Amino acid sequence: MALSPAWLDELKSRITLSALIQRSVKLQRAGREWKACCPFHSENTPSFYVNDQKGFYHCFGCQQHGGAIDWMMEQHGLPFMDAVKELASEAGMDVPAPDPRAARQAEQRATLHDVMKAAQEWFVAQLAAPGGADARAYLERRGLDEHTIRRFGFGWAPDDRQALKTALSDFDERLLIEAGLLIEVEEKLPYSRFRGRVMLPIQDARERVIAFGGRILQDRDGVAKYLNSPDTPLFDKGRTLYNLHRAAAASRKSGRVIVAEGYMDVIALAAAGLEDAVAPMGTALTEQQIELLWRMVDKPVLCFDGDKAGTRAAMRAAERALPLLRPGHSLQVVQLPAGLDPDDLLGRDGRKGMDKLLEAPKSLLDLVWEHEREASPLASPEDKAGLKARLMEHVDTIQHPDIKSLYRRELLDRYGSFAYPPRDFARKEPFQKRAFFRRDGPQPTPPHVTKRLREASSGAFRDMLTAAVLGGLARHPAEIHRHSDNLLALAKSDAQLARAVDFLLESSEDLEDRGNSPIFANDVLPPAPDNTRFSFLMEGSDPEEAREDLAEAVALLVERPALEAAIVAATRRFDTDPEGAFAEQQRLRKRKLEIDTRLGQMTRKRAASQAFENEIADAAEHSVAEQETD
Ligand code: UTP
Ligand code: MN
Repeated sequence: MALSPAWLDELKSRITLSALIQRSVKLQRAGREWKACCPFHSENTPSFYVNDQKGFYHCFGCQQHGGAIDWMMEQHGLPFMDAVKELASEAGMDVPAPDPRAARQAEQRATLHDVMKAAQEWFVAQLAAPGGADARAYLERRGLDEHTIRRFGFGWAPDDRQALKTALSDFDERLLIEAGLLIEVEEKLPYSRFRGRVMLPIQDARERVIAFGGRILQDRDGVAKYLNSPDTPLFDKGRTLYNLHRAAAASRKSGRVIVAEGYMDVIALAAAGLEDAVAPMGTALTEQQIELLWRMVDKPVLCFDGDKAGTRAAMRAAERALPLLRPGHSLQVVQLPAGLDPDDLLGRDGRKGMDKLLEAPKSLLDLVWEHEREASPLASPEDKAGLKARLMEHVDTIQHPDIKSLYRRELLDRYGSFAYPPRDFARKEPFQKRAFFRRDGPQPTPPHVTKRLREASSGAFRDMLTAAVLGGLARHPAEIHRHSDNLLALAKSDAQLARAVDFLLESSEDLEDRGNSPIFANDVLPPAPDNTRFSFLMEGSDPEEAREDLAEAVALLVERPALEAAIVAATRRFDTDPEGAFAEQQRLRKRKLEIDTRLGQMTRKRAASQAFENEIADAAEHSVAEQETD
């Protein structure tokens, strides 16, 4: 019986999942969701969540996931149709009568399944037969043991055009053609598709054989190394992942899914004890395959060759995934040494080598960033603009608004520090060289000063920084255009600032003509803090240093409010994703502290004797006073 997606949607919308689950599990409210100790595994703190809006339950502990129908099947042990009937009667819906065409199709599928099962048995028998000796030797050469060969169902298709047809003569020839086992061309007797190949069954989630892959024994030019079944009523290449049925079970335990490029990699991984691996069918990952992977885990790990072709394949997968990204779901990437696939690497370094790589996968964002950064050298402004444009093209494909803006921010940030590397910033002990400015040598900032700084920097101090940056740009007008994007982004958040930014962008040439005299800018720009220690506001600073400090100040000015917003967002997520939100918040807080410290360092650079604490207090009071007179 075929139930239409629309009918199933209607059924889902009439069932309140939490009410259904409440009957057997005690649920507690958690924001807009419900939570409980997971009924699928034993635990003491709740990680099982039910979301009525989305109509699904999810356990963050054991990854059990599903909707109302799954619940009835998993918890009450009902077969699919019984679960549907039960829910339909509650929802007051009639289960549609079976559609004769769909019934016929289902019947035909059943016979195709029988054909595939018979073919699989025949291939296996051929491998064991005397004619399979070369194939057995090949598998042995590849280091595959008896157990693995049996478990993965390896077989052998003899180099014979009619043998399979004869062996499966119980089935109608049309069925063998439809199953993709025989090829039919005009004027010729239908003949075996797979000849002289080691055969591998490709199975669906219910372990039924739906297709085959075959490999030649000796690589030869002009002969495809691998041949797959064509798409058939049973087999849709783009929706199939090799080894899904085994990996799904294994991933529930490991919380991970590895995606390799080829089925021999998957088998080598399994033979080494890594059972949670799948592979697409010799093509780039499709959207449907990505969705299948996300049903298993939030961040499947893609393994690719470290060479050019591998990186290109990884980028193709990334480009497929970007538009689909949704909160919590992404891809991770492990790049193997150039020229090695997981099979080769396991042969060379064993399980340990693979484990080591799997420990530190790259994020999707890292992949995009590193790929574009390395795509061409950055020798000219045009190159820089090119890099930025390529990054933003990727960002533009992301559909989810929050993820899109987070990617934009992060990539622009990386772009900024790469295209205009701030001096000193990455140095381990940044200010030792300037220690002679201080009579008593470098000292850690006392805690009460840090605290004061943090308090001050949330409001007045930020205004001080804004004023300093605007004043700095007026003094160094040649720098204005380099920061136009950041300035425009800032202008969006504040109308007063917008006026100042427009003014700077419009009059940068005038400012340059007037020999860096910012006098006529006074109407529009707030007065620069006068007792400042920013190099870009001081007479006689090293111009290069002033330029870089200014760039850094602009970057910090932009990042800080973005960080604050992100912290607020992370705090809001505490209910639904406590661990994720906590980790994110810690990371953001740490970054914020780094920024504050860095700002402190910038203003302190030139301070010879005056106590730092006083300076910050001055600066804060100064700009508060300015605001009040506004
Ligand atoms: P690879 O060329 O990387 O092969 O193709 P492999 O997996 O390392 O195989 P071995 O180790 O040489 O046996 C990766 C995948 O691309 C598809 C297959 O699915 C293969 O697993 N492929 C490759 C084809 O479909 N046809 C081909 O001719 C080659
Ligand atoms: Mn290989």
